Amino acid sequence: MSRVLVVGSGIAGLSLALDAVAAGHEVTVVTKGELGQSNTRYAQGGVAAALFPDDSVASHVSDTLAAGAGLCDPEAVRVLCAEGPDRIRELIDLGVAFDTHDGELAHGLEAAHSFPRILHAGGDATGAAISSALVARLRERDVAVHEHAFLLALRTEAGPGTRVVGAEVELDGGARVLLDADAVVLATGGAGQLYPFTSNPAAATGDGVACAARAGARLADVELYQFHPTTLALPGNFLVSEAVRGEGAVLRNAAGERFMADVDGAELAPRDVVARAVFAEMDRQGGVPVVLDATALGAEFLAARFPSIDAAVRAAGLDWAAEPVPVTPAAHYWMGGVATDLWGRTSVPGLLAIGECARTGVHGANRLASNSLLEGAVFADRAARALGDLDSWPTPGSLPGTVLADTPAAPALATSVPFTRAALQQLMWDAVGLVRDGEGLAAAVATLDAWAASAPAATDRASHEDANLLLLARACARAAADRPRSVGAHHRSDDPATARTPQLAAATR
Ligand code: SIN
Repeated sequence: MSRVLVVGSGIAGLSLALDAVAAGHEVTVVTKGELGQSNTRYAQGGVAAALFPDDSVASHVSDTLAAGAGLCDPEAVRVLCAEGPDRIRELIDLGVAFDTHDGELAHGLEAAHSFPRILHAGGDATGAAISSALVARLRERDVAVHEHAFLLALRTEAGPGTRVVGAEVELDGGARVLLDADAVVLATGGAGQLYPFTSNPAAATGDGVACAARAGARLADVELYQFHPTTLALPGNFLVSEAVRGEGAVLRNAAGERFMADVDGAELAPRDVVARAVFAEMDRQGGVPVVLDATALGAEFLAARFPSIDAAVRAAGLDWAAEPVPVTPAAHYWMGGVATDLWGRTSVPGLLAIGECARTGVHGANRLASNSLLEGAVFADRAARALGDLDSWPTPGSLPGTVLADTPAAPALATSVPFTRAALQQLMWDAVGLVRDGEGLAAAVATLDAWAASAPAATDRASHEDANLLLLARACARAAADRPRSVGAHHRSDDPATARTPQLAAATR
């Protein structure tokens, strides 16, 4: 039996905790909010899996690889798609009530899938349904849970890169404790708060990835941030699921024209393509949001199939059955993160990472819709199995990415813009957002380095979050500057090949 410390309580953290306790480990869960409060809870569209008669694992693999724009790890994708169906069956056994139609599992279509393989629950409340079921199961088990607890730092045996032996955590109420562990599993989600517009909750500040970087773990693909094309163009950026387009809603510009109609896949083209097209269309119309036209679907269908979105839209005073609603892209999902092998093991012994905070290689440069919950479930299962042999670890250097500590220190430049979280978010949106170029990235790196050079030591939770965001923004901007070619969500307007690729050019003209 090992002492396992799980940080985070989305689908990955909860699944891992359940599997680890079932395997006889002593499990402690630390989570920033209430148990289950995570990005998972906000997931609407669903979870993809090749579970239906005319579908196949090979087809799911092929769609995932195509969306990933050549940067996926094919073996990781094979694992995801092949093991996914069993993980879904387990979720059902644990009490997740996926929606049914005529007594069979209902399954919808989302962008860049060649088959309607997206299971959903509560219409558009898939993540909440999964989270509630897993939280209920975990509450029945013998697991120590610290809610409203904040990860301050990982403890290593002898400095960055050496075995992780626990974590320093600020508990609810402010006490700071050291939690010893034989293995720490990060399941801390993404970092949507790097940007001013995000579908993520306020807690998504990338704490686990930042702590892993300080502990000497390799990070990979951190420049690859996915922007969702359709969030409500209102404060809070409420997500309007791709599944709405999957059911037939279309995008229109201010003139009422369907600007995606001529693009391969139209409104269901890969997410990066649609997001950039929306961004470009907004630019052409002076920043005015485009609209999502779901009026053809009818009030009754919209309320039944998308109850959460229906409520949010109506709470904002809009009637989406009667008129199109304004939508805009927002930061949604981080493809990069802590580099892991196919068992969730990072480059630092004793440290595992699963779910959005991990870079397993399944998403490449653009995650396929509804593969994120699946990744959480599949790699939690694998990481739980890896806990049985904590002496076995990837050989140093076999994982992709870089160790931040190896990056040369930046010269302390001055900047006229003082550091605030809002300033960082705006800089990231402007220079490290949907469309990037070398000049903007170099300027962003210089500003971020200057902020880092003069940053005061973090004291309270907010300043620790700021420090985490700053570390991650620097890593993201630097990696984006180092990747001169456009690929998937990383779109360089100064890449000569961009202009020669019709879909990319369409999004930047
Ligand atoms: C959505 O429902 O559009 C989001 C699904 C996802 O992020 O995969």
